[in-house]
Amino acid sequence: MNEENTLIPPAAGSEASYRHWRMETDRDGLVWLTLDKAGSSTNTLSREVLDEFESILDGFIARNPRGLIIRSGKEKGFIAGADINEFDDIDKPEVAVALMRRGWDLFNKLAAVRFPTLALVRGFCMGGGLELALACRYRIAVDDPSTRFALPEVMLGILPGWGGVKRLTGVVGPTAGLDMMLTGRAVDARRAKQIGLVDASVPPRVMENSARVMLVRGNPPRELPLVQRLLHGPLRNVAARFALKQLERKARREHYPAPYAILELWQKYDGDPFAPPPHDPASIAYLVQHPTTKNLIRVFHLQERLKSLGKGIGFEAKHVHVIGAGTMGGDIAAVCALRGLTVTLQDTAPERLGPAMKRAAELFRKRIRDRLRARDAMDRLIPDLAGDGIRRADVVIEAVVENLQVKQELFARIEAQAKPGAILATNTSSLKLADIGAQMRDPSRLVGLHFFNPVPQMMLVEVVSGTGTDPEWARRALAFVRQIDKLPLPTKDTAGFLVNRVLMPYMLNAFRMVDEGLAPETVDKAAEQFGMPMGPITLADTVGLDICAVVGKQLVPEAAPPRKLSQLVEAGKLGKKSGEGFYRWHEGKPVKGPAGHVDETLIRRLLTPYLDEARRAVEEGIVADADLADAGLIFGTGFAPFRGGPLHYARSLEQEQH
Ligand code: NAI
Repeated sequence: MNEENTLIPPAAGSEASYRHWRMETDRDGLVWLTLDKAGSSTNTLSREVLDEFESILDGFIARNPRGLIIRSGKEKGFIAGADINEFDDIDKPEVAVALMRRGWDLFNKLAAVRFPTLALVRGFCMGGGLELALACRYRIAVDDPSTRFALPEVMLGILPGWGGVKRLTGVVGPTAGLDMMLTGRAVDARRAKQIGLVDASVPPRVMENSARVMLVRGNPPRELPLVQRLLHGPLRNVAARFALKQLERKARREHYPAPYAILELWQKYDGDPFAPPPHDPASIAYLVQHPTTKNLIRVFHLQERLKSLGKGIGFEAKHVHVIGAGTMGGDIAAVCALRGLTVTLQDTAPERLGPAMKRAAELFRKRIRDRLRARDAMDRLIPDLAGDGIRRADVVIEAVVENLQVKQELFARIEAQAKPGAILATNTSSLKLADIGAQMRDPSRLVGLHFFNPVPQMMLVEVVSGTGTDPEWARRALAFVRQIDKLPLPTKDTAGFLVNRVLMPYMLNAFRMVDEGLAPETVDKAAEQFGMPMGPITLADTVGLDICAVVGKQLVPEAAPPRKLSQLVEAGKLGKKSGEGFYRWHEGKPVKGPAGHVDETLIRRLLTPYLDEARRAVEEGIVADADLADAGLIFGTGFAPFRGGPLHYARSLEQEQH
């Protein structure tokens, strides 16, 4: 903080001392209120934090300061939202309503104060954090890559009940506001400025000054542009109908009731969550009793558990070397560079590296809007034909062709050159670590890092330990996976690890159902009706039927190859990449005919091998427990999240039957 901004501490005895909040008054008479939640690296709005905030706010209301600036005392992040650990009994309507009442009343009080208020946001500003910021008169975003605004409640099956539904659309207009709330998607500082979510987006060095100037000037808050004002007012039903159409294309109401509730709450009740009666699907009471909500909260906790597996390990990579710039290696390298690591990428010829560099540039353009930062990411990704990077890397990832001899020789060479502390990892999908490491001096160093295709989109990475792998190396690999913002799942080294092992019998079953005369469209419809993001036949066409045939044979050798699949592969109809497979593909999309009737029996028949195999994988200890299997299969195969995971779903089926 510069000298100009010297803060005068409050006079002794003038403020109670708080555990989570600090406050100082500067010489302009502005109060700087800093949230620094005790005992936590992240600010969340726990009951205690809210209670303290209310008491502080009451004091200000009595005193009427010149202005109030709310900011975070954490290194990373403004406020992550409500404290989800306090959501234990949230499926009880009275608990949910009381929790909602707490934030709703408090933020209404904040919105009603007479003095000007400003939220100075650096880092993530999520859920209740954004609702707090929306209740302030002004908002400033610090333009920093970590600054992100979102109302992600919909992902937990609930709604932004602390004023978000009402205020967000009022501040940014229904188009951007509904999009944020119905998808849970985050916006960065610049986008926040564009849509009017913040009044200014400023670089870190001037953030305090900008906040002070904005409060002292006290300009009237921005008004909505005309079209948005109309859509928010007299044309609200038109805006809602349009949003509903888009929503219906993305999520079924019976699977995901929350986005529909948010939309209706806005349309019919002007965002007041206490207005709908308890049986109304737009009410929080209805939502929290819906099984989807419980399951989505479960999935949130599963995700946190995967994240925690990579925490506190004390390994941090600066430089990654990737060998093999094909489909997988190229994208793994790009993702590492995107996350701030220096990456050297090796292949056998410059023309192999070219396409990977081009794909990386596209990824950076899409994911990093700022041109300079995108260029920095590109600068971090270095083509390295000679493989000089191996000597400097903290992690070496091999992603060359699936050929044992090639990999064996490569690892003998890598081991001789790499730093003693470097993780040595293979992305193999079917070879045994013990075999790949056979020519290494110390094969206990070798771990598997099994990424999924497409790497930038798929969250999961299986961290594979072979029989000889030293657990310490596997632990470091977990930390590395977190560092590149993926979810690590520790698995044992058996054919297909967890994800492919479970997926394959399900896919083979789907092919067989086609052999028995069902249309591919019908099989896909059964999966989609259950809630899978993509039917197994479309998935097979997307992955490539040749790959499916080979992996199928590898993982389920005893099964006769499915007839139609073999015919298609023989005819060179390999799916999306060749323009035709089970479906004809046009402009990247399958051309589908009508699907037949789908009922519960058909769905169950399609899914049984999936559920059985997941159970067997846990019994055999491929992953440590059923929850980890559920997590892996949700984040690795997209198993319908609102079902809570395959094993959880199987258990709930059994309970229903008893
Ligand atoms: P790919 O064929 O697209 O790329 C392999 C690349 O490695 C090629 O560019 C090739 O020139 C290069 N290469 C071969 N030998 C090399 C050597 N000695 N030194 C340097 N570069 C060399 O293969 P893809 O699909 O990327 O697969 C790579 C690995 O990842 C395989 O082990 C595969 O099993 C595994 N994998 C593949 C997945 C997929 O969906 N394609 C998913 C998960 C794992």
